[in-house]
Amino acid sequence: MSTVNYNSILLELFTWTEVSEYLKTSKGIIIPIGSIEQHGPTGAIGTDAFTAEAIAREVGIRTNTLVTPTQSFGMAEHHLGFPGTMSLQPRTLILVIHDLIISLVANGFERIYLVNGHGGNIATTKAAFMEVYKTASLRKFSWASKVRCRVFSWFNSPEVFMETKRLYGEKEGQHATPSEISITLNLHPLLIKKQRKLSEASPSGPIFGPEDFKDRYPDGRMGSDPYLADPEHGQLLVEKAATALTKDFLGFIESP
Ligand code: NI
Repeated sequence: MSTVNYNSILLELFTWTEVSEYLKTSKGIIIPIGSIEQHGPTGAIGTDAFTAEAIAREVGIRTNTLVTPTQSFGMAEHHLGFPGTMSLQPRTLILVIHDLIISLVANGFERIYLVNGHGGNIATTKAAFMEVYKTASLRKFSWASKVRCRVFSWFNSPEVFMETKRLYGEKEGQHATPSEISITLNLHPLLIKKQRKLSEASPSGPIFGPEDFKDRYPDGRMGSDPYLADPEHGQLLVEKAATALTKDFLGFIESP
């Protein structure tokens, strides 16, 4: 488990006067975004929120950048056949992301960086960014032309991809992957005792509606063997992801 203390970069522990001071030296802020959805019979419902939050905070501490509370709810319509899943429709998530970002932009933040833990959020998040740019323009913020938003899904970084290939090969799969489960085992050791070998191999394939998803992937996994997960892998994967995203974030902050 990480022993790093993140209090110095958590927005919710700042006062408004401290945020005001911060804005004199940095216009950047990080928002973790996840999903509350089934992760197979042995994975935690909060997996995508936990992974995004852990990696976002690590990037924040390395770059001395504010990190907002986690937007734990994401677009998980296709997982709604499994109890415990809580999804925002794409149109709702667009509004939520827009409203949260424009709140920050209205007070002078210009570089908004989303650390994402769930593939289903990507298209919606990018649509929300276009709404943010439009609103910043309509509200005639003098800094509107400087506003930039970016989303980076930690599992898509080449460094993480290579590491998951090395650790798990084809058994990484697409959903309820041993890599994401490893990170949750590292963060929350109580989850370790829930892990067990799952008898049936799970298929990979496309994603449509929730009924079709449950027919294709009856236990919720997609092509993965989460029993390969290990808390020590989790530590390593957060490290790899944080290194990759820190580099990407610094490029984003410094770009014109
Ligand atoms: Ni996930």
